[in-house]
Amino acid sequence: MTDEVDISLSVNGRTYRFKAEPRRTLADALREDCGLTGTHLGCEHGVCGTCTVSMDGQPVRACLMFAVQAQGAKIVTVEGLASGSELHPLQKAFIEHHALQCGFCTPGFLMLAWTELAKNPNPSDEELTDILSSNLCRCTGYKNIFSAVKAAANEMRNGAPK
Ligand code: FES
Ligand code: FES
Repeated sequence: MTDEVDISLSVNGRTYRFKAEPRRTLADALREDCGLTGTHLGCEHGVCGTCTVSMDGQPVRACLMFAVQAQGAKIVTVEGLASGSELHPLQKAFIEHHALQCGFCTPGFLMLAWTELAKNPNPSDEELTDILSSNLCRCTGYKNIFSAVKAAANEMRNGAPK
């Protein structure tokens, strides 16, 4: 076992300090050291995207990063989307468009969409298909996820909270 090191992460506007081995992944740190279990772990090798979080405005696979590498970055997880009891427009749209069934992939899709819409608020259908092809869903068939993100993007462009 390697000696633990001090790690500090900025997540959803809050600082989390803990000790962990340098090989601790960001996904494990978020779930086990920060208690933010909304970030899910599926394949644990960069394929499924369910562990996607936003880091300095880019979607990243938290299973492929070490927590020590994420120090100094601004991380947003699915827990950072809602404002109190008010769900984010993307979360509402996922419910309204039946864009989830088991929900396992949902945090990853939400964070992927949230991060990408911040960069490009009005993606074409082709661009959105390309963005969403980054993550896997075993239940929905993707069509409803596409519709939900499209609807949320529209709402956000018309003034809904981002
Ligand atoms: S758990 Fe990270 S990509 Fe699958
Ligand atoms: S809703 Fe079940 S994997 Fe996507």
